[in-house]
Amino acid sequence: MASGEKTAMAAGSTNLAGVKVWDIALRLFHWSLVLLVATATITGFLAAEQWLDLHVAAGIGIGVLLIFRVIWGFAGSYYARFASFFFTPGQVAEHLRETLKGKAGRYIGHNPAGALMVFALLGVLTALGVSGFIVLGGQENEGALAAFVNYQSGKTARNIHEILAFLLLAMIGAHLAGVIMESILSRENLVRAMITGRKHVKAERVPGITDESPIVWRAPLILALIILIAAPVYQVMANYPASGFIQMKANAAWASECGDCHIAYHPSLLPRSSWRQIMAGLEDHFGEDASLDKETKDQITAFLNEYASERWDSEAANELRRTDAQKPLEITASPYWKQRHRDIAAEIFKRKAIGSKGNCLACHKDAANGRFADEEISIPE
Ligand code: HEC
Ligand code: HEC
Repeated sequence: MASGEKTAMAAGSTNLAGVKVWDIALRLFHWSLVLLVATATITGFLAAEQWLDLHVAAGIGIGVLLIFRVIWGFAGSYYARFASFFFTPGQVAEHLRETLKGKAGRYIGHNPAGALMVFALLGVLTALGVSGFIVLGGQENEGALAAFVNYQSGKTARNIHEILAFLLLAMIGAHLAGVIMESILSRENLVRAMITGRKHVKAERVPGITDESPIVWRAPLILALIILIAAPVYQVMANYPASGFIQMKANAAWASECGDCHIAYHPSLLPRSSWRQIMAGLEDHFGEDASLDKETKDQITAFLNEYASERWDSEAANELRRTDAQKPLEITASPYWKQRHRDIAAEIFKRKAIGSKGNCLACHKDAANGRFADEEISIPE
């Protein structure tokens, strides 16, 4: 039992070369996790849109590590196994009380407070991964859940994802504080222990398995198995058509007539009422005469009506449905459009390769299909 391993040793037993506590797989897990969480944190907080690919890649990496850690919690070496650091709430409380009094016992593996933190970190990271994939699928129509989550759920998940991210930062802070405190109290550099795997305690007082070698060979096998199973499952799920997009039969009249003076704006970028007004006022269309014969006009009106933003569940359609009350005909006047482009200076839109705000295609390579994915954005020089 976990409590039995408490070896309330006098501090200062740095006499030996040390005993192996953290096996190599656990240490690699730990430092890979640090690296990937740092990557996800930086890309997430600083530039979620531009670095989405890297952010998601880090998230996938963390997911693989978490699955590995759970399996390793049962199949790893002694101190990696959950059973070796599973404490009751009473034990955790007692440990904290003793720590405050300065007479907490020493643990070879995780102490009760550290163990609780490990479980909490694994839990919050799992919740971050799950909510992240819901955001990716719902809001961006990408990833394994693109076909299964709608935009609103993605938006809700985004709020949860962000709260969890702050919670994680706070927990990492507490974890570091705990490591520093325990390092001082036990005169054992715990960071170094997580690098070398060794702690300097009297060998005869160390319970359980201390020789990792017979077990560690399982680690690459487990990792390979996870990837072998998870990759095809992810691929199959990601191959389902994204739920935000419907099959659109393009209309030749629309493409040529409405793509004459500017790009043919994807029908999902405005609601039905806006398209109806645009089509009813072509004689004076933003100061230009864009009038059409009745047959062509009816055909285009029907097409725009059929595929207006109400039909789609993409990010652009959901957000651009809300037009500006004074200028309901202008995509670029909508609150969302203005908010997303507020950092782009007016001079940039005047660049030769762009020309105007309305030339979506200059910066959004996928403007023609209404997707407006983050990875397809690039502002030409
Ligand atoms: C004769 C040229 C001409 C034709 C043809 C034309 N437009 Fe326009 N359109 C303009 C101009 C000029 C503007 C003002 C904004 C700009 O300069 O891009 C505009 C703006 C728009 C906008 C607002 C874009 C924004 O900045 O938010 C929409 C939507 C639009 N047009 C739809 C259509 C549709 C639908 C058709 C086809 C029925 C069409 N246009 C055909 C010239 C044209
Ligand atoms: C000068 C380049 C430029 C032009 C022109 C432009 N955009 Fe953008 N757009 C951007 C950039 C850059 C971003 C990302 C802003 C950010 O980081 O939040 C963006 C973001 C967006 C987004 C949000 C994408 C997402 O998933 O977060 C949508 C939707 C969008 N633009 C639609 C349009 C439409 C519609 C037009 C044309 C009417 C347009 N944009 C014209 C540069 C441009």
